[in-house]
Parts: sequence; structure tokens; C-alpha cells
Amino acid sequence: MLKGKHILIGISGSISAFKIAHLASLLKQAGAETRVIMTRNACRFIDPIVFDTLTGNRTVLDDFDRNNVSPVSHIDLPKWADVFLLAPASADLIGKAANGIADDMLTSAVIAAYSCPILISPAMNVHMYENPVLQENLEKLRKRGFTVVEPASGFEACGDTGRGRLPEAEELLERLELVCGAAHDFAGKKVLITAGATQEPLDPVRFLTNHSTGKMGAALARAAAVRGARVTLVAADMRVAPPLGVTVVRTGTAEEMFEAVMERFDEQDVVIMAAAVADFTPETTAPEKIKKDGSSASLAVRLKRTRDILASCGEKKRPGQFLCGFAMETENLIENAEAKLRRKNADMIAANSLRKEGAGFGTDTNVLTLLTPDSREELPLLTKDEASHRILDRILARL
Ligand code: CTP
Repeated sequence: MLKGKHILIGISGSISAFKIAHLASLLKQAGAETRVIMTRNACRFIDPIVFDTLTGNRTVLDDFDRNNVSPVSHIDLPKWADVFLLAPASADLIGKAANGIADDMLTSAVIAAYSCPILISPAMNVHMYENPVLQENLEKLRKRGFTVVEPASGFEACGDTGRGRLPEAEELLERLELVCGAAHDFAGKKVLITAGATQEPLDPVRFLTNHSTGKMGAALARAAAVRGARVTLVAADMRVAPPLGVTVVRTGTAEEMFEAVMERFDEQDVVIMAAAVADFTPETTAPEKIKKDGSSASLAVRLKRTRDILASCGEKKRPGQFLCGFAMETENLIENAEAKLRRKNADMIAANSLRKEGAGFGTDTNVLTLLTPDSREELPLLTKDEASHRILDRILARL
């Protein structure tokens, strides 16, 4: 996604500056070229040599440093950048950027930036962050087209708890991908993805579920969003956070997921069903907790079939809509997946075997076979992110 992209990072004084070291490394691994500008106070928290080393480029600290590659770095660096990320952005940097103050290298570069998108990621104590003056400054920046990355909540270095933490490097990387990443070959397309494990209640305390973590669905949603699609993620129980930039619709049972998908189906261009949906649900849900009183040594629960969401979409599908399902099998992978492709009137089934190493629940990788009515493609062991892009490539070719 970020291969060959020019990423300019401005770091101001915050204890969270250390997270940018990891980001710089991730960017390098992604093939991006990164240049870093640091304020004087940023250098109190982390040494510029860290970024010299991780980016392979000399960190710029002072516009008047005669060793700078360019004598006017504050003009040339924003011109060079495909995206300018200000992270961590202190209250001071935000105040200066919002009010046109340009009294050092970084703030001068911010005011000189005119052609690249600017992401600003505030990081500070919760009370500083909630101070109305800070919020007014952020609002001013939003109005001027800056994208504000909402800080995370949690324990802060000063001991307080609240909003103000710099997001983790992986999340910042994702934001960069969204801004300047992939070819926007899904721009204008609406994509709905289901993910996670449905939960079928037996009583107010217990439910029937499965091992799905939602990683594959989350990866697909992230990949589609990065490629410019308008993504709706219909999420059952997920162990991973949904990606940024997608609309999340939370559902519990298979029936709730059915309703959520069918309500939105007509307007979608692509629907991908990565959720592990219960095939059966308890015939009745006990209104109170089921007690074990009496001496019975066993308990029988009667189950009834749930509605098949993929098959219902297959019935309703109009020309031009693309429907992709998943099949996880323990035996006869291809035969079973081909039968599902036909039975559910899907355009593609991504089949994976629970018996294959690197495939299955909770892993970050998958080994998929993509089946369409007239083709079969075996993908190698890939990360779920990579596999998602391969699926989207195939879908796009057939849309
Ligand atoms: N699926 C669905 N609704 C259901 C059950 C499954 O939409 N009630 C979807 C899944 O999201 C997946 C595909 O159908 O994309 C295949 O799911 P799977 O459980 O492998 O297939 P089943 O049709 O349930 O067949 P079986 O349980 O016999 O393997």
C-alpha cells in the first residue's frame, strides 16, 4: 500500500513519541520513504538518532542547520510529502498550527504545507485534551482540512485515566494507508462484510457460539476501506477491533445478522460473508437462568435451524452484485465448497481447511482456495490482510 510513498512525520514534545519509532520501522517494512521533523522538546523524549537510523534519512531539527539537505527544508519537505503526519501533536503544536504561529522548523513546515493531506494525532493529558481552548484549536484545524486522529482512552503516563493517549503505531499506519495508500480501485463501491461469531442465547446467562475471532472479516473490511470502498461491517462477536473508516453494525444472533444484512443488501455492490453464523439456535430461550435443581444428570436442548443469510442474498441478488461466501471445512474441502457455491448462488467461495497449518480460527494467516463457477485458484499461505487483497482483486476483475 505505502510502497514508494513519501511520508513526512512531525514529532512534538510528548512521552508517547517513542511509539513513532515503531511506526518508522513499520513504514520502512512497508516500503515507504519517511522523513522526520522534531521539535526541541520532542528531542527531550527520544533521540533523533533513533529516527535517523530507522528511516535512513537525517532527522531535521532546525531550519537554520547548515547540514540540512535543503537550505529551505520547511518549504521543501511538505512539497516532497504525499502525506504529513503530526504525531504526537502536543497542545502547544496544535495551538500554534491553529493560529498560524511558525516559530520553529516544524510549525514553519506546517504553515508551508499546501499540497499534501495533513493528519494530526493529539497526545496529552486528558484534562489538557478536554480543555475548551484545545478543542477550539482542533476545530479550527478540522475546518482547514486537517484530519484529526482521535486519541485513544486509557491509562496515561501522568497517572490520570482518560482520552489523550497516542494511538498505537499499527493504527497510525492504517490511517496513513487510508489517506495515501492503495489505488482507489474500489472508490464509489459499496461493500458489506460480515464478521465474527454469532451468539445464540440459551438463557440470560449462556449462549452457543463458535471459535471465530473476526480477524478475516476485519482484514477484508480494512482492505476494502483502504481501496476506497464504502464499507459496512456487520459484526457479531469479534476479538479484534473493527478497522477505522468503516461503518460498524453490531449484531448478536444469526437472526439479528440476517435482518441487518437483508436490510442493507439491495444497495451493496459487493457482499462478503466471512462471519461464522450459527446453523442452529435453541428452540426457546429460557427467560430466567436455567437451574440444575432436581437430580437430572443430563439436559437436552432442542435446536432449530437458523436462516441462511448467504443463500437468501443469493436468491435476491441482482445482476452486477457480487456475492462471496466462505467455507471452512474439516474434510472434502473442494467438493463441499463447490456444493455451497451452487446451493447458495454465490459468485465466489473462499474455502479453507481447518486441518491446514496456518489456516483457521484466530490465526493471522490463511490458506484459501478461491472457487467461482468457472475457476479454481489456490492461494499460498498469506497473512489475512494479503489474502483479503487477493480476494478483492478477483472480485474487481469479475465485477
Ligand atoms: N452462512 C450464512 N448463514 C448461515 C450459515 C452460513 O450466511 N445461517 C454463510 C457463512 O457466512 C459462510 C457460508 O455461509 O459464508 C458457508 O458457511 P458454512 O457454515 O461453512 O456452511 P453451511 O451452509 O452452514 O454448511 P455446513 O454447516 O453444512 O458446512
